[in-house]
Amino acid sequence: MAFPASFIDELVARNPIEDVVGQYVSLKRSGANMFGLCPFHGEKTASFSVSPDKGICYCFGCHKGGGVINFMMEIEGLSYPDAVRNLAKRAGMEVPEDEQYQSRYRAQERLWALMKEAGRFFNERLYAPEGAACRAYITKRGLTKNIVTQFGIGYAPDSWNALVDAMRKKGYTDQELRAADLVGEKNGRIYDRFRNRLMFPIIDVRGNVVGFGGRVLVQSEPKYLNSNETLIFNKRKNLFGLNFAKKTKQPNIILVEGNIDVVTLHQFGFDNAVASLGTSLTEDQVTLLSRYTEEVILTYDGDEAGQRAAKRAIPMLEKAGIKVRVLQVKDAKDPDEFLQKLGADRFKLLLEESANRVEYQLNAIRSKYDLRVDDQKILYVQESAELIASLDSSVKREVYGGRVAEAAGITPEAMKLEVEKARKHRQAREKKKQEQIDLAPVRAMQPKERSIRYDNVKSALAEETVIAQSLREPAMLDTCRMLTGSQFSVPLFGRVFDQLQARHGNGLEVSLAVLEDLSPEEVSHIAGICQKQNGPVNQKAFSDCVKLILSEQQRRNITTDDELMALRNKLKESKGANI
Ligand code: GTP
Ligand code: MN
Repeated sequence: MAFPASFIDELVARNPIEDVVGQYVSLKRSGANMFGLCPFHGEKTASFSVSPDKGICYCFGCHKGGGVINFMMEIEGLSYPDAVRNLAKRAGMEVPEDEQYQSRYRAQERLWALMKEAGRFFNERLYAPEGAACRAYITKRGLTKNIVTQFGIGYAPDSWNALVDAMRKKGYTDQELRAADLVGEKNGRIYDRFRNRLMFPIIDVRGNVVGFGGRVLVQSEPKYLNSNETLIFNKRKNLFGLNFAKKTKQPNIILVEGNIDVVTLHQFGFDNAVASLGTSLTEDQVTLLSRYTEEVILTYDGDEAGQRAAKRAIPMLEKAGIKVRVLQVKDAKDPDEFLQKLGADRFKLLLEESANRVEYQLNAIRSKYDLRVDDQKILYVQESAELIASLDSSVKREVYGGRVAEAAGITPEAMKLEVEKARKHRQAREKKKQEQIDLAPVRAMQPKERSIRYDNVKSALAEETVIAQSLREPAMLDTCRMLTGSQFSVPLFGRVFDQLQARHGNGLEVSLAVLEDLSPEEVSHIAGICQKQNGPVNQKAFSDCVKLILSEQQRRNITTDDELMALRNKLKESKGANI
């Protein structure tokens, strides 16, 4: 559902960007802008800028940026409508929603509130006398009180009605308890579903408790009892711990198998750990991950099932454009046991090792070929040599080359020759690539964001100026009414221009914050352009840019000399006219 434009205008006006960003980043003023440490990537010097008068933020380091709504989407990992709802709440505004949404939302809100109450109840019971055994279990597992509090871990008492009674007292109906999947039912009577279990609340990225995972305290089956699907919960679409991990400054996310692994990792300072909820990784979870990170470190258990899970997950993640590293846990069965036994520093070493994907990649290459067949053996050696040639340490090349030689049954010397050959090819390729870059400034002018291409750099730079200056001084839009988005060489700028022109024409707010239908990358790109242009708006420069866009567009359309002549004449005529 689209929100009315006037509502968005007011929303933006009532959420000054410096205030909203200021809740997450400590900002210092410097001239017209404010600066702070970028919340989207780890850094030590402040390159994250907020410009209150432009209503935008932009990071000169990682090139993320946008208006206040984009910032909210990015920092809290929300969809556009949810970011709007969040900001509306912040400013005390009522969101104009349609009826269907409202009734569904009300039902969801009831369940969120109930689940939160239930979580609070379990947590209280942990510290009651009946929670003694559970507390002892937590201590035995090496979990601290801090981490128990952070994750809201609790205890479901060994009772058929403790939760039911407590929630009824709070005013929740049996129907709601059923809808939340907190109860079972027999002969028309409901009873507590979770009994005598260590309770992990499952919290979604918006911070709502949406489900529970309950682990037994003494060995019995099933080890875990998890919430089934409800109006607010789908285990295939959530990841345990993502509500915390999404705020990490690490450039990656560690994906593990168990709830306890996640909690222990966070306790030991690895605040980027998540787990799937007792299923193998799903497409929805991959999509979710891709919203928060560009790299996933797979940390499955060392057993065969864990290895199989990793093998399955890798292509799924790579298909979504996520880089994958595989962390092999040694000397322990899982990350939890590893950390408790060997500590955080040793785990850091494992993480570093996982960055070295050579071993893993070599295995992957090997599994493609049948080494009993000569042709395939040769391909195996060649492909491995390519990979080894890319290593910058001669020791590494020697070590890994030796391994491949052994597997292929050739001498290390023969392998060494093969690697050298691959290195020469590689160097030649790189030299050629560099020459191409040097020779083609046009290519060097391409935006950092690879989804946006400048086919006509000259025009694109003019378009940048038109967009940035219009955002800065909307009155400029009055001077170029004859220009339309379809005449721009960069479709993104065309779309933005049309939106600006339409909004300005209707007397609506013109700012980056109110632009619609842009991807986060596109918004960041526009924000970057605005931050680059700092001088005062210059009428002459502006209209030169407009003219250039028009003539470049005409040139693209021209097929014959006649048309070119006609255009020249037309341009001559229009000279002096105010465009
Ligand atoms: P510990 O064995 O105590 O270290 O627990 P863990 O949290 O590390 O769990 P484990 O590695 O055994 O299992 C991984 C995940 O699979 C758990 O966190 C649960 O989400 C899920 N899981 C494990 N056992 C069951 C089960 O019996 N039923 C269901 N539905 N899920 C389970
Ligand atoms: Mn475990």
